[in-house]
Amino acid sequence: MGKRHPRVLVFDSGVGGFSVAACIHRALPGAELLYLADNEAFPYGDQPEQVVIDRCCALIDLSLQEFHCDVIVIACNTASTVVLPHLRARTEVPVVGVVPAIKPASECTVSRKVGVLATPATIKRPYLDQLIKDFAGDCEVTRVGNPNLVRWAEELVSGKEPEQSLVSDAMLPLHQRGVDTVVLGCTHYPLLLSWLQRSLPGVAFWVDSGEAIARRVTYLLQQAGRLSGAETPAELPGAVVKAACFSGPAPAGIASFSAGLGMAVAEVRSHWPSLK
Ligand code: DGL
Repeated sequence: MGKRHPRVLVFDSGVGGFSVAACIHRALPGAELLYLADNEAFPYGDQPEQVVIDRCCALIDLSLQEFHCDVIVIACNTASTVVLPHLRARTEVPVVGVVPAIKPASECTVSRKVGVLATPATIKRPYLDQLIKDFAGDCEVTRVGNPNLVRWAEELVSGKEPEQSLVSDAMLPLHQRGVDTVVLGCTHYPLLLSWLQRSLPGVAFWVDSGEAIARRVTYLLQQAGRLSGAETPAELPGAVVKAACFSGPAPAGIASFSAGLGMAVAEVRSHWPSLK
């Protein structure tokens, strides 16, 4: 037990959580990751709240039966806005959620014009209203909840790149407002950053939550006395990602996609865990 590398479960509806996993890996190169995606129910942005809560809790329970983990990261804004209290009530393992980085964005913006990109579900949740009220009350905030962005990000795994003109059309409301700061309020979006930047060349600050999550995970491992070895590029016995598990079929190309982000995958599982 004392010799085991710390292990972090990273959960998302699809491959967006890899953007967060990459930040955790950069901060803690000796930590092992377990990637879990509920792609059978993708996109969460179109799902009712209760479906997200039930599926997320059940899949994580089943995964923990096989893989001991030291921290659980819900690397999905859409799930985090509804599922965190439910998960915390059923496991002792610390749970970290991700919320749109409104506060850091309000600390960056000079023009006080901020854009928020998120899934259609996150864009409408009272949670986001509250964050904006609490931290960006003096900013003009323009929200875009375009359902295509997550799909374009998923397609990157198979090597298909989004059409720049379609991305620019989706970014039009932010272009028209002249925002200088954009919050990437969905973990899929950092994967699309170069297309977003080409569409909005006037934006000075792109803000996501990946590094803040990595800092929180570091703190929690430290508190649990599990940090030793995680901060240094350790000789992980297998690979950085112990297993990449998908409730539906695993996307073809997922291992090389992850390797492209600097994280080798030891094992890919499809239809696991099964909720049947
Ligand atoms: N990556 C997810 C998020 O951060 C959600 C994508 C989806 O399933 O709609 O919100």
